[in-house]
Amino acid sequence: MSKKAFTVTAALPYANGPLHLGHIAGVYLPADIFVRFLRLRGDDVLFICGSDEHGAAITLRAKKEGISPQEIVDKYHHLIKDSFEQFGISFDIYHRTSSDLHHEVSSEFFKILHEKKAFTQETSMQYFDESFQQFLADRYITGTCPKCQHDAAYGDQCEKCGSDLSPTDLMNPISTLSGQTPVLKETSHWYLPMNNHEDWLTNWIQQGILNGEYQHNPGEWKNQVVGQCMSWINAGLKPRAMTRDLDWGVPVPLPNAKGKVLYVWLDAPIGYISATQAWAAKNGKDWRSYWGKAEGTGRKLVHFIGKDNIVFHAIIFPILLKAHGDLILPDNVPAYEFLNLEGDKFSTSRNWAVWLHEYLASYPNKIDELKYVLTSIAPESKDAEFTWADFQQRVNAELADILGNFVNRTIVLTHKYFEGTVPAAEQLHPVDKDVLEKLKSVEQRISALMYAYKIREAQQEMMNIARIGNKYLADEEPWKKIKNDLDRVATILNIAIQITRELARMAQLFIPDTAAKIYGMLGVSPDTLLGEVTPIPAGHTINQPEILFEKIMDELVAKEKKKLIHAAPQQTPYPAMKELIQFDDFTKMDIRLGKVLSAKKMENADKLLVLTVDTGIDERTIVSGIAQHYSPEEICGKSVVVLMNLAPRKIRGVESNGMLLMAENHEGTLSALISDRGFEAGPTIG
Ligand code: MF3
Ligand code: ZN
Repeated sequence: MSKKAFTVTAALPYANGPLHLGHIAGVYLPADIFVRFLRLRGDDVLFICGSDEHGAAITLRAKKEGISPQEIVDKYHHLIKDSFEQFGISFDIYHRTSSDLHHEVSSEFFKILHEKKAFTQETSMQYFDESFQQFLADRYITGTCPKCQHDAAYGDQCEKCGSDLSPTDLMNPISTLSGQTPVLKETSHWYLPMNNHEDWLTNWIQQGILNGEYQHNPGEWKNQVVGQCMSWINAGLKPRAMTRDLDWGVPVPLPNAKGKVLYVWLDAPIGYISATQAWAAKNGKDWRSYWGKAEGTGRKLVHFIGKDNIVFHAIIFPILLKAHGDLILPDNVPAYEFLNLEGDKFSTSRNWAVWLHEYLASYPNKIDELKYVLTSIAPESKDAEFTWADFQQRVNAELADILGNFVNRTIVLTHKYFEGTVPAAEQLHPVDKDVLEKLKSVEQRISALMYAYKIREAQQEMMNIARIGNKYLADEEPWKKIKNDLDRVATILNIAIQITRELARMAQLFIPDTAAKIYGMLGVSPDTLLGEVTPIPAGHTINQPEILFEKIMDELVAKEKKKLIHAAPQQTPYPAMKELIQFDDFTKMDIRLGKVLSAKKMENADKLLVLTVDTGIDERTIVSGIAQHYSPEEICGKSVVVLMNLAPRKIRGVESNGMLLMAENHEGTLSALISDRGFEAGPTIG
C-alpha cells in the first residue's frame, strides 16, 4: 500500500475542568490508537490538540470559582496536559488558545475572511443584563426551550432535545449572571451566512464532491455524522453570529469593534491551525504542508470529536476553511457517541465521574488496563457504559487470563525446555500451518478496520491472536509431549514465539506499554506494520518472563464504587449557590436582631402582616409576607432578623422599612430565625 499523509486533530478540551473517562473513551484514545496505527504504517502524520480557553464555558467557571478566566485556564490547561502525557496520548503538540500565537493566527484568519466578504455585518436586538452591563450570549442566558418546553435551555442550545437555539428563541429568558430578566438592546455583529452554503455542503457531505471533484468517499463517513448534518441542512441553515460582546477571547481585529471578540466556535477550530504553526516553528517545518490545499495535496484532514461537536466540524468549520480558499477540508469527521458511568450520565456538576488524573494517581501502573477496557467499550456507534465491575471482569478474564497467560506460558516453557533459546521448527503439522495462515491475515484485517475507524473491532482482532495462541497451546499440550517428543515441542514453542511476536506487534496500537514489555521479553526490537516480518530465528535468546497484568481485586471495585457514591452530593431540593460576592458586598448590608412589638393583618391581603419592630435604635413598620405562616399572635414578641437598610417600599399603601429575613424550606414554609441566647432587640449581625 502506498504511503498516506494525515493531519489528525482531537477536539480541543475546554480548560474549565479536568478530563473524565467519557472524554478519553470518546475522543482522545481512539484518536491516539488511529495515529499510532498510521505511524507504524509509515504514513506521514501530524497529531494536534490543545486547550480551548475561550468562551462562556471558561468565564462562567471563573465566576463560580471566584478567580479570573486566565487563572482558570492556567490551572486546567496544565492539569489536562499532564494527564494526557501520563496516560500516553501521543500528540505531536498540545497547544492552547490563550497563547499569543493563537490570537495572531485567528485574528489573521478572521481578517482574510472579512476581506473575502465571507461575513455580513448585522445590527440586531440582543438580551442585555442591566445590572452586569453585559450582553447575554450563549450560556449567559437560560430559559424555556420553545421546542420541548425544557425550562433550563441555554441561549445557544437545549441540552434536553438537542435543538440549536439563539437567545431570542427562549421563553422566559433569565440572565445567568444576575438571575434577572434581561432587556433587549441594540448591538452589531459579523455573521456567517450559512444559508448561502447549503448546496455545496450537501454535495460534499452526501457525495464527497467538492468543486466538481471527488474529495472523499462518502461511504466512509459515519451514518450519524451524515444524518446529523443533513437534518441541519434540510431544516435550513441560518446566518450565525461569529462575534460576541465579551471581554474574554480574541478581540475582533477591525476598527469599531471595541468590546467584541471572536465567537469561541470560530476561534477554537482555528486552534488546530495555530497549534500546527507552533509545532512547525519548533521543528523546522512549514505548517502549510499540513493544511495548504496546494502544498498538502492528497493529505487527509481527520477530526476526532464527540457527537455534540458534529455541526461545528462538519458544517461551520468547513465553511470557514472553504471561504479562506487555500486550505484543505476534512476527509472524515469520526464522531463518537457518549460514555455513561455506572448507569448514569457523566456529570461534572454532580461529580459523577471517574477523573483521569485521579485514576492515574491511584493506579499509575494500570494504564494499559484502562486503555484496553475503554477501547473494548468505545462508544463508536451507540452510547456505552463504564462500570468498575466490568473493568475488573475485562482485565481479569481477558487481559490477565487470555493475553497475559498466553505470553507467560510461552516464555516460561521456552526457558524450562530450551533454556531460553528459541527452538527450531521441525516438521509442520496442518494445525501449525493453519495457525501461521491465520496470523498472516490479521494485519490486513486490522489495517482495514483501522482505516475504517473501527477501533473496537480492531482491538478484538489483536485479542484473537492471544486466543489463537492459547487454544494452540491447550490443544498441542507441549507439557505432555515433552516426555517423549522433544522435536514436536520445539516446533510448538517456535510457533508460540511467532504468535507472541505478532501479538506484540498489534498490541502496540492499543496497549503500547504491554507491547514494549513483550518485545522486551522476546529480546527483539519493535516491528512496524508494513507487511510480514521475518520470523525470530532459531537460536535467538529470549529474556526472563514478567507478569503483564495483576488481577483486579474486589476491594478495588468496592472502593471506587464507594467513592462515586460519596462524591455525588445528596439530591437536594434547594437551588445551587449564587455567584460569589466580595466581602464589601456583604458589609453593605445592615442586619440586626429585632423584636416584634405588634402585628396585624393587612386588610384585603392574605399574605401580608404589618409589624412594628423594635430594632434597638428605632421602632419601625415592616410589611412582611408571612401571614400564611405566622398568625399575628404567634409572631408578636418573637426575635427576628431584620435587613435594616433595604430602601423603603410602599406595599398596599403602607411604607415598609426593611425586611424580615426568614428561612424557607422546599415546601415553602417560612420560619423566623431566633437567637439561642435569648438576645433582646438591637444586636448587629455580621
Ligand atoms: N471545547 C469544545 C468541547 O469540549 C471542543 C472544541 S473543538 C474545536 O466541546 F475545534 F473547536 F477546537
Ligand atoms: Zn428543547
